[in-house]
Formats: sequence, C-alpha cells, structure tokens
Amino acid sequence: MTSNRTGESTSTSSSASIGIEDLELGASHHVLDLGRLAEARGVDPAKYTRGIGLDEMGVVAADEDVVTLGASAAARLLERTGTEGLRTVLFATESGVDQSKSGAVIVHGLLGLPSSVRSVELKQACYAGAAAVQTAIGIVARRPQEKVLVIAADVARYGLGTSGEPTQGAGAVALLIAADPALLAIDPVSGVYSADVDDFWRPNDSTTALVNGRLSISAYKNALLGAWDDLQAQGGPGVDELEAVVYHQPFTKMAVKAQRFLDQHTGGRLDPEALEQGAVYDRRLGNTYTASLWAGLAALLDHREGLEGRRIGLFSYGSGSAGEMLTGTVQPGYARPERAAATRAALDARVPVTVEEYEELHERLLGSDEDVETPRVTTAPFRFAGVQEGARKYEATA
Ligand code: CAA
Repeated sequence: MTSNRTGESTSTSSSASIGIEDLELGASHHVLDLGRLAEARGVDPAKYTRGIGLDEMGVVAADEDVVTLGASAAARLLERTGTEGLRTVLFATESGVDQSKSGAVIVHGLLGLPSSVRSVELKQACYAGAAAVQTAIGIVARRPQEKVLVIAADVARYGLGTSGEPTQGAGAVALLIAADPALLAIDPVSGVYSADVDDFWRPNDSTTALVNGRLSISAYKNALLGAWDDLQAQGGPGVDELEAVVYHQPFTKMAVKAQRFLDQHTGGRLDPEALEQGAVYDRRLGNTYTASLWAGLAALLDHREGLEGRRIGLFSYGSGSAGEMLTGTVQPGYARPERAAATRAALDARVPVTVEEYEELHERLLGSDEDVETPRVTTAPFRFAGVQEGARKYEATA
C-alpha cells in the first residue's frame, strides 16, 4: 500500500466490506386498486391478486416522474445519513425523461449537492439498479472514504387493456453505498448473465413498453439459472448458505416462479415465507422496474426477524437481457421500525384514483414543442413544474 502527500491510502484495492449503508423507498402520489381495474376490464380480481400477486399499482400525478420520485426518496435518505463523503450520484432508470441529459444531474441540482459530485444515468432495463450498485461498490473499493448515492426509479407503462397493464407501477428506491455499511455488506463475488433477447423493449418512438409475456418469463428463468451457475463457478455461496433470496418482481408471482426454478435447479429448498416478506411493498407498488429488487430488499429487512449475520441472495433481471445474482450479509441493527413505519405510511398516504382518472393520466403525454405548466398535485418534496422552450423544469414544493 502507498500513501499520497496527505497521508491518504492510494491502494487500488481494499479489504473493507462495502454495501448498503441505508435505503429509502419513494412512492407516487396516486394509487390504483387492481380490484377496480379487474372490474373495468371484466377480469376475475383473483387473477391479479393471486394469479399475478399484485394488489395495487402506483400511478404518477401530472407533476411527477422518475426524477421527482427519485429526488424525493433521496432527500429523505440524505436527511438521515448526511452527505459527507458523497462524490457520485448514479441514477438507474428505463423510463428516463431525456435521451441525453441524465436524471442524475437534475437530482443533483434539486438536492443542492456541491459541483464536486459526479452525476450519471445508467440503462439496461430493470437490471440498471444492480449495475449502479456494482458500479458504486467499485468506486468505494478504490477510495473507501467516498460514498455513492444510487437512485433506482421507474414508471412502468404498458398499453391500456393489454395483458401487461395490471403489471404497471411507479416508485423509487434511494440507496447509499459505503464502506463498512450498516445494513448489508455485499460479497465481492456475484454471478452474471447476458443474452440478446427481444422479450421486452421500448422503441424510441413509443411511450409504452412492448412485451412478449411468455418469452419474458423464460428469458427471466434463463438469466436466473445462468447467473446462479456463474455464481457457483466463481466460488460464491451455495444455496444452503442463503437464508433467503430476494428477486426482481415485475409482479410478485414472478418471485414465486423464480424460487421454484431455483429450487428445482439446485435441489435445495429456499424458505417460501421469505417470498411473502419480500413481496410486501412490491404487491402495493406494482412493477417499479429498476427499483423492484431494492423495494423487495427493503420489505425483507422490514418484515423478517433474525437476519443479523445471515447471508441473503439478490437476483436482478433486466429484459433484453441481463441478470445478476448478488449475495450479501445482513448487518447487526438492520431492523429499523421507524423506517418500516414511514414506508407503510407513505404507501397508505397515496391518493386513490378511479379507473377513468388513471386512464386520463396514462394518456396525458407532454411533448416538447410547446410550453406547459403542470397542475400542482404532488405533496412530495419535489415536483415536475412543466416544459419551457423544450426543457423540463423541476422545483421544490415547499
Ligand atoms: N384466479 C386465480 N389465478 C388466476 C385466475 C383466477 N381467476 N385467472 C388466471 N390466473 C392465473 C393463471 O393461472 C396464471 O398463473 P400461473 O402463471 O402461475 O400459471 C396467472 O394468473 C397469469 O395468468 P395468464 O398467464 O393467463 O396471464 P396473462 O397472459 O394475461 O399475463 C403476463 C401474464 C404475461 C405476465 C403479463 O402480465 C405480462 O405480459 N406482463 C409483463 C411482462 C412481465 O412482467 N414479464 C416478467 C418477466 S420480464 C421482467 O421481469 C422484466 C420486467 O420487469 C418487465
């Protein structure tokens, strides 16, 4: 190891554990009860609640988008943790608001962070959240006194009346990645998988995703098993060493299917109760794409006792396709009843919309060719104020 002139370590690697210091979930202003959607579409509500495992879906107000969801979650997170050591903001999304400017730089401005913080957006469908966490770990490994704010935020949109419609949703999770983390120390070894598949995508001229539902489930399965096999090949932990696995949950039944695939593949039997504990928030958010896995982790930490010192798995899947199986050890003192209560309160506080109101919001799309002011609706810390000369404008609500 060498030192620079200030005596700071310049070693390129560190044996310090690195992972999640703290996290915060962000909910949309509105919510749609899927029972109402089922009624409107002439579908048995049990298909949604039991068949796909979703009760509600988040719906963004006219003055919300991924930037406001992410910035509002990050503001609450940084209120607890402070910003000391923060040198990077990574924004993971597949429903970004601009093809060039990143959501990260807008969040950076809204949070009033110093100019000496780098800002960038990452994309690979729902996998970008895990990619951002791994990128953050790499940054902290090189310089353990640095911290990275990772924001995963998405608004999932399919066409009205399509089979994907009940699996829409909206939400964000902000995570602080640091050395010697208070919540979860992430293992250096992970299993990865990539394959070029057209299971789900959103062309540049479409505001809704296109999907081949059956293919997407088999592509998810291939990525899960491929990532698992790679984890084993890299010397990662076996299934008997895992207390639970949290999965990307486009709908929570997908996690049930995933665990069945994994059990059949490994011959092990992962705890089915952990599936329910890890699904508590995703059942109410709907699909939050990049944020879904991390909302699952937040739910597991908030609803499962006795995780101190136990190793868990985290499976991220992004259509197109990329998968990664991460593992990590839950840290002592991980249970935070106040954080769990605040998350529940934020989900309960969402304002219900009727199916007609949801459809109107769904079809309300702003172009960039005329100036628009959005109505004041959200009570979150930040709002999308409208479009001026083609540029999206944001402001604090207070
Ligand atoms: N009561 C209880 N259960 C019922 C029921 C009823 N009355 N009616 C149907 N069901 C069950 C079915 O048996 C089925 O269960 P299983 O899958 O366990 O067999 C389940 O409800 C769904 O029924 P269908 O398969 O008939 O549903 P569908 O074809 O209308 O749509 C879907 C399902 C294909 C997943 C569709 O919602 C979709 O396309 N979603 C978007 C794509 C997606 O999320 N894919 C997941 C992998 S890709 C990914 O993970 C990335 C991402 O985020 C998009």
